[in-house]
Amino acid sequence: MTDHTSPVVLITGASSGIGRATTELFAAQGWRVAATMRNLSQGADLAGLPNVEVLPLDVTDASSVRAAVAETLDQFGRIDALVNNAGYGLFGPFETASDEQISRQFATNVDGIFAVTRAVLPAMRSQGSGTIINVASLGGLIALPLFSLYNATKFAVVGFTEALSYELAPLGIKAKYIAPGGVATDFAGRSMVQTFDGVENAYGDTLSKVVSAMTGVRTDYSSPESIAEVIFSSATDGTGQVMYLAGQDADQAYALQRSLSEAEKLEMVRQRSGL
Ligand SMILES: NC(=O)c1ccc[n+]([C@@H]2O[C@H](COP(=O)([O-])OP(=O)(O)OC[C@H]3O[C@@H](n4cnc5c(N)ncnc54)[C@H](OP(=O)(O)O)[C@@H]3O)[C@@H](O)[C@H]2O)c1
Repeated sequence: MTDHTSPVVLITGASSGIGRATTELFAAQGWRVAATMRNLSQGADLAGLPNVEVLPLDVTDASSVRAAVAETLDQFGRIDALVNNAGYGLFGPFETASDEQISRQFATNVDGIFAVTRAVLPAMRSQGSGTIINVASLGGLIALPLFSLYNATKFAVVGFTEALSYELAPLGIKAKYIAPGGVATDFAGRSMVQTFDGVENAYGDTLSKVVSAMTGVRTDYSSPESIAEVIFSSATDGTGQVMYLAGQDADQAYALQRSLSEAEKLEMVRQRSGL
């Protein structure tokens, strides 16, 4: 049962995948949810859920960030958790990425998190409580060939969140990150942008090997709902835990990496990537 004392979460990128599943789970658990997205037409069904407010927010647009946070505080009076989920992947050789592609990747996956977090912090500070949850990736802990720019953004999110957790703790605010492995969402489709037009360049051989390794049959993708469960636990478990691996593949790969020497790890990644 939701009422005006129920906790409040603001979620970015709620239109699909992990953000949508997280919206549905928090709402089902009785939270009041500001489900934010770039295109409101993708949230018509979410707007029908009790205590879900669908609001416009493009994480690369400072004025829309400010307006969405102000509207959430106006509607609900507080923000107990922020889920910085919006993001997408850039795939392909670093050298062939355009300046615009590089800027947009960082503007969305990194600067976007900075902007929404800074907009929410004053309210959390005055409450003396709150949890910032950043959706990073296993790609923020283990780098893969041809994901240099995406990896750079997610390693940034991991370092940022861990550092932030120390300075926010004395204010009663927690900072946490989620590191999902592969998740069955639109991520590998419409949320994956390529830095190359074809394979007719110096990286062609690497590209075709990695692409064919990636298109091999994988059966261990997590559902967005199971990642939402991890996000919900991170908001409610009351612990100071900062890193939350999400998905069996993430658990296994991270444990394996930690058990290997650097040379063994590099060889493992090369082999799994078809190189
Ligand atoms: N799927 C995976 O395997 C996987 C693994 C690890 C981490 N992740 C991370 O999980 C997060 C969610 O991805 P997903 O898998 O759920 O993919 P998804 O279904 O494609 O969702 C991506 C979401 O980000 C939103 N978005 C992109 N740019 C935005 C912007 N400038 N402002 C606001 N929203 C923006 C998209 O909105 P639109 O609908 O407007 O495009 C969409 O709602 C991402 O940060 C991703 O890096 C995914």
